[in-house]
Amino acid sequence: MSLRFSPVLFCALLAACGQQEDAIEEFLAHHWARPLAPQGRAPDGFAPVEAALDPDSCGGCHAQQLADWRTTLHAGAMGPGVLGQLLDLAPDALDEHQGCIRCHAPLAEQAASLSAAIARALPRGGQAALHEQGLTCAACHVRGHARFGPPRRDGSAPASGGAPLPHGGWKASAAFEDARFCAACHQFGEGDFALNGKLLENTYEEWKASRHAREGKSCQSCHMPDRRHLWRGVHDEQMMRTAVSIRTTAPARTGDLIEAALAIRNTGTGHRFPTYVTPKVIVEIYQARADGAILRGSLQQHVIARLVELDLSREIADTRLAPDEEATLQYRIRLQPGAQSLVYRVRVEPDAFYAGFYRSLLATDGSARGRPLIRAALERSQRTHFTFFEERRPLSRPNAK
Ligand code: HEC
Ligand code: HEC
Ligand code: HEC
Ligand code: HEC
Ligand code: HEC
Repeated sequence: MSLRFSPVLFCALLAACGQQEDAIEEFLAHHWARPLAPQGRAPDGFAPVEAALDPDSCGGCHAQQLADWRTTLHAGAMGPGVLGQLLDLAPDALDEHQGCIRCHAPLAEQAASLSAAIARALPRGGQAALHEQGLTCAACHVRGHARFGPPRRDGSAPASGGAPLPHGGWKASAAFEDARFCAACHQFGEGDFALNGKLLENTYEEWKASRHAREGKSCQSCHMPDRRHLWRGVHDEQMMRTAVSIRTTAPARTGDLIEAALAIRNTGTGHRFPTYVTPKVIVEIYQARADGAILRGSLQQHVIARLVELDLSREIADTRLAPDEEATLQYRIRLQPGAQSLVYRVRVEPDAFYAGFYRSLLATDGSARGRPLIRAALERSQRTHFTFFEERRPLSRPNAK
């Protein structure tokens, strides 16, 4: 039997696809309707560990996810930089709290625990309160004490009437495998804050316009490979190496002028490189002495970033690379006395914006209670810098004999 294209079947499939799309939209609109509703009373028969919302409790059974999650910025989403700012709000300014925790710690139970902590004025000590645990498992997976997750790897979902599962079983939704799941917090909506006509957060739309979306590579494909809860990004050296392709050309010498180039192309990032205003990528070439020290006056740089004023009043420059876009640093500087090699380097300051922002917060009289935390956040933001590409090429010298 020859396989012929059937218009009837094609339409039927399209309709089924359309329905699934709607189901995902509907699921997500409900799942991420913030402020999230309180979980309410746990079902009768739930053991305390099944009713608990803290990640450690989940990890008793889901050890791999817990071990991964602990290493991520999602787990650290209520770090000192966020909490330091929240502590100076009134305990009952719940809408203002929501303005931040709807992404950083969205459970209703976390909103309550944050409000209580602000009212208490002093840190409680001991085990971290629920709001301090950031973007928890339950924020993505638990609503009304029911668990939601992606279909099993074999595509199946728990059958009704099977052997009873912990926490009353779970419900499968394809929404977990969809990029729109992440858009809930990584994409601003129409009318949200924009600068120079561009939303401050536009990751999902950048992705959607890219070849990666057309090739069926979702956020999860790159950030949760094999469903691992890793979410590596601009803070991770390995991830940054996969983000771009870099080519260098050897130094060419004309008289005492050195010319060279470094081309950097966004080949592995499913959105702009980088997507936010916070990181700064610095591409640079310089001449070094035999001991590796940089020779003053020989440094040439190109910054890849969306640079904005600290008060977000203005966009200063936007040199981010769209998917498959390339930038080239053309080096053209005189040979310096003592130069032995030419160094090509690409480094990143993942928290460049925040470092400046924390400094300006500390320079004002505001942020009284949050001050020690903001100071800690500033220190931390200055320790995250790293170099993810470095190459040295010898500089030929005129024959001295
Ligand atoms: C007592 C052990 C236990 C505890 C505690 C527990 N789980 Fe589970 N969970 C299971 C088992 C067993 C399954 C069933 C796996 C299956 O059916 O494939 C499951 C299924 C799930 C699923 C569906 C997995 C999928 O394939 O989509 C999610 C999501 C989930 N749990 C999240 C959580 C979260 C979040 C917590 C903490 C708030 C938690 N669980 C606490 C044992 C536990
Ligand atoms: C729409 C979701 C969203 C909202 C709302 C939001 N953030 Fe964030 N925030 C993010 C994302 C995503 C990042 C990581 C990317 C980045 O650094 O820009 C982040 C990073 C941060 C950081 C730097 C990382 C850290 O943990 O130190 C701080 C500080 C921060 N946010 C504070 C706040 C404060 C304060 C508010 C409320 C006024 C807020 N955020 C509202 C999504 C959000
Ligand atoms: C930011 C949201 C988010 C957080 C936080 C989160 N998960 Fe998930 N989880 C997901 C998504 C999305 C998937 C599906 C990934 C995919 O299909 O590629 C998933 C998948 C799972 C699965 C199914 C895994 C499999 O191999 O089939 C389990 C179980 C699970 N998560 C448990 C947890 C636990 C336990 C925690 C906390 C330690 C946690 N999750 C934190 C979003 C989250
Ligand atoms: C409930 C809101 C929320 C959801 C849903 C969410 N994120 Fe995040 N994500 C955040 C916040 C907030 C941060 C910043 C945490 C911080 O540093 O304080 C973040 C940070 C990250 C980072 C780390 C970036 C870096 O600077 O290295 C990556 C990568 C990331 N998210 C990917 C994802 C992906 C992929 C999904 C979907 C599976 C997802 N996120 C879903 C809120 C969310
Ligand atoms: C083809 C792989 C790929 C896809 C698809 C992808 N990312 Fe990324 N993402 C990366 C790489 C590589 C980085 C590190 C380079 C960078 O920061 O731009 C990154 C960085 C990030 C960061 C760190 C912040 C920053 O300023 O760059 C966040 C947040 C993030 N991705 C979220 C997402 C979300 C949400 C989606 C889906 C809408 C997504 N990513 C799709 C590869 C991917």
